[in-house]
Amino acid sequence: MYSALILAAGEGKRMKSALPKVLHQVEFKSLIGWVLEAVSAADERIVVVGHGGEQVKAALGDSVRYVVQAQQLGTGHAVMQAREQIAGSKYVLVISGDTPLITKNTLDMAFAYHRSGGNDITVLTAHVPDPYGYGRVVRSYGGDVERIVEHKDASSEELMISEINSGIYFFNTDALLPALDKLTSNNAQEEYYLTDTLEIAIGEGKKVGAFLLGDHNELLGINDRAQLAAASEIMRRRIVDAHMQNGVTFIAPQTAYISGDAAIGRDTIIMPNTIIEGKTVIGEGCVIGPNSRIDNSRIADGAEVNSSVVVRSAVGEDTHVGPFAYIRPNCTIGSGVKIGDFVEVKNSVIGNKTKVSHLTYVGDADVGERVNFGCGTVLVNYDGVKKHRSEIADDAFIGCNTNLVSPVKVGKRAFIAAGSTITSDVPDDALAIARAYQTNRTDWKRK
Ligand code: UD1
Ligand code: CA
Repeated sequence: MYSALILAAGEGKRMKSALPKVLHQVEFKSLIGWVLEAVSAADERIVVVGHGGEQVKAALGDSVRYVVQAQQLGTGHAVMQAREQIAGSKYVLVISGDTPLITKNTLDMAFAYHRSGGNDITVLTAHVPDPYGYGRVVRSYGGDVERIVEHKDASSEELMISEINSGIYFFNTDALLPALDKLTSNNAQEEYYLTDTLEIAIGEGKKVGAFLLGDHNELLGINDRAQLAAASEIMRRRIVDAHMQNGVTFIAPQTAYISGDAAIGRDTIIMPNTIIEGKTVIGEGCVIGPNSRIDNSRIADGAEVNSSVVVRSAVGEDTHVGPFAYIRPNCTIGSGVKIGDFVEVKNSVIGNKTKVSHLTYVGDADVGERVNFGCGTVLVNYDGVKKHRSEIADDAFIGCNTNLVSPVKVGKRAFIAAGSTITSDVPDDALAIARAYQTNRTDWKRK
């Protein structure tokens, strides 16, 4: 196959950001994260880093190789830094780290075109409605690619050209390396332009072709926040459309924000204003939203999450969450459970058919099956220094307004009287009352 060289050393000045440009996100994934996914067919992925290089490396880890471009002297100069790394491969795909909408499918087709056409260089191009800022593809009268001219170097006639350079190319390495040697920085930006390698190669009798895309959106390069928003919207719609194809209903598709790594089962209904992040997996026949956010969680078949937030947790079959519940990280909620309004659950296990209906905090607890929480129960899990864990066994009944001061164990079928503050274990089948007894002073008002 080919080596992929991803250019990501530029500063991205137009973003006006402390974050390196390629780490800005489109639908919950960095620009370069999307590019790396699109080039996943490559034998090897090499990222050229420079500006903010440490941040980029920290974000991508050791899934790729790195080449450092200490000074950003242009896209051609960036490729020169990787000479040794690419010398051994027959083909090199060069791609900017700021083109998140390119798809693997398009790259596969372009590579097939490159090889079947016997090209030495193939540049991916498209006609765009607003070519401002892009390099333009200059063709001969016969239609052959002659060269690419940068916006800043273009004549007024060249600026009229609507076919743009995507910044994505397949090179035969034996055509690329000698052309790199001949690059100069004799241009408006005093940079070594990778784009000049095309004209150089043509001068040496090499075959240069263009792979013209129908969907120019795939080539959108992100240079500023407006383009970031435009790309996010295209990606968002692409993901939502794919889910609709798979049998998911969206009540208001224009308000759904779904990670490209999420899976959603058939006949699930996504209500308005729903955000699904990370590697979330949602089962079949669920109702998610309105106004919900689910992050890296598993929601089983038939569950409902209404106006609630679920983070890094699992929700079982036919369980109802919300409205206005907050499931914090590391919860495993069983099936047929009810997590009602103003309930917060954190780092806890909730057994099947348990009901936590209202105004309750369950933190650091192992709760059995068919437990009933009265309104206003609090797991008092923090003593100011340490967190403690509690256990509530099957079929326990917790009366309203109970404090369970952790660590504490409530036995099977135990019953806790409303208003109790429980500080010691309650045995199976026991009734615990831990509150002041009521005294009535008769005739008190009259006296
Ligand atoms: C580049 C192309 C232009 C094309 C456009 C497509 C050149 C000279 N121009 O312009 O023809 O239409 O992409 O989006 O290639 N980079 C480095 N090191 C550098 C300079 C840039 O790694 O010294 C990286 C950047 O981080 C970025 C990519 O190369 O990921 C493209 O650089 P950018 O400055 O955005 O180029 P454009 O002006 O957009
Ligand atoms: Ca760019």
